[in-house]
Amino acid sequence: MHQLLIDQLREIRRPVEVSLPDGSSITAPPCPAENLGSLEFCADLGIRFPYLGGSMAKGISSVEMAIELGKAGMLGFFGAAGLPLATVEAAIDRLMAAGVPFGINLIHSPQEPDLEQALAELYIRKGVRLVEASAFLALSLPLVRYRVHGIRRRPDGSIETPNRIIAKVSREELAVKFFSPPPEKFLAQLVAEGAISGDQADMASRIPMAQYVTAEADSGGHTDNRPALALYPTIRSVASRLQDEHRYDVRLMTGLGGGIGTPHAAAAAFAMGASWIMAGSVNQACVESGTSPAVREMLAATRQADVIMAPAADMFEMGVTVQVLKRGTMFPMRAAKLYDLYRSCNGIDDIPAPERDKLEKTVFRSSLAEIWQQTRAYFLHRDPRQVERGDRDPKHRMALVFRWYLGQGAHWAKDGEASRTVDYQVWCGPAMGAFNEWVDETFLALPENRRVVTVANNILFGAALLTRASFLRCQGASLPEETLRTEPLEDAKIKEYLR
Ligand SMILES: Cc1cc2nc3c(=O)[nH]c(=O)nc-3n(C[C@H](O)[C@H](O)[C@H](O)COP(=O)(O)O)c2cc1C
Repeated sequence: MHQLLIDQLREIRRPVEVSLPDGSSITAPPCPAENLGSLEFCADLGIRFPYLGGSMAKGISSVEMAIELGKAGMLGFFGAAGLPLATVEAAIDRLMAAGVPFGINLIHSPQEPDLEQALAELYIRKGVRLVEASAFLALSLPLVRYRVHGIRRRPDGSIETPNRIIAKVSREELAVKFFSPPPEKFLAQLVAEGAISGDQADMASRIPMAQYVTAEADSGGHTDNRPALALYPTIRSVASRLQDEHRYDVRLMTGLGGGIGTPHAAAAAFAMGASWIMAGSVNQACVESGTSPAVREMLAATRQADVIMAPAADMFEMGVTVQVLKRGTMFPMRAAKLYDLYRSCNGIDDIPAPERDKLEKTVFRSSLAEIWQQTRAYFLHRDPRQVERGDRDPKHRMALVFRWYLGQGAHWAKDGEASRTVDYQVWCGPAMGAFNEWVDETFLALPENRRVVTVANNILFGAALLTRASFLRCQGASLPEETLRTEPLEDAKIKEYLR
């Protein structure tokens, strides 16, 4: 009996009829997975399913991952952060040649404004039509330049913007900025530079900076640790308010990321009205990700409480933190120690000798003087201003040396450097543990079976099934627990259900 109901619920394109004890009967309508979010959003992006793969730095969200998601009717963002421009350009060429919808990360780099500008210009030059704008604390000129590039009026008078932005935010004031028109001062600057005409600036003052915003709740990597249940309704409400205020021709839309690694989480996001969902942590654990097999093994063993906040390499001095794996690595503890020393000492020479000794033996495996020489050489090439400052300011020198360790931690992890497993920095959120618990003792427990589309299909399919179960519950059915299980299904089966 239960099995029959499970089978019927799985046929998500057909209605299910259930008899209640009082003899009446109720129906759950069909719920194809493509209808869970916004059909309008999917049509805008040219995708079938409202499922996005978030950007993961250093190509962890790889070209292969974006292509696989694109081929399956979803969309992946290539993780451009931290990569040389030439590598990003080569990735764009491959993505374009694949002929699938894709996007690329445009990450705010307040410490390296030239880099942000170079990326934005590269995207304009290559004709990249969709970026995930993230880490913005305020809008920047390069981002505005990207957004308004090529803006024009259609014959019917409406405004066409070839370049789209999906902004990722965890704070309402940033959602307000993205849902507002580009700031006038930037438009005036672009007109003065001859980048756009006065008429284009006028058109730009009537479009939102981003039509789409992903609310990012507690996630892997940089995160404000906001709970999805509190964050999403606020961001959604901002969209609604700003839509009324500006009366745009287009509709502002919101999606949700952060914590999504199971069908239940996805169903909850869609139930709150998310037009799409976005996953990161669980994708890193998939075979297409640009990380190492060693990290994938570690991720497969991760449980919900195995993540912790640790100092971030990019904004170390400001005390910014990132969410990382703590099981199987000493990175978070060591990085926290470095931050404590940074706060309490004025420079490397100020570190108590026994402490310094320990750092040189265990953490750096080299003298701090030697690490400074390496760091200095690196920055001479990349950003000589850092070297000048480091030479004259011992505290800054210490920060740069400590940041060497934080940065290397991510490289060692991604490259699977066997001599440094205890120092791996692996960005990861609690979604990973939730995923692992869900797939325990199934084929997806094995890292080698985790394919990004298999995972995405199962999350979406399970969400559709649970949504149908909710329809029945709302009408008074008491459903047996077994019918609410969403154990993952192999590709052939899942594709049949999603067809
Ligand atoms: C390994 C890793 C690297 C990430 N790197 C970036 C990045 O470079 N840029 C960015 O916008 N978001 C980055 N994120 C965040 C993801 O794009 C996504 O928003 C987030 O992972 C969603 O939450 P979840 O981890 O709970 O799935 C990263 C996340 C992870 C796990």
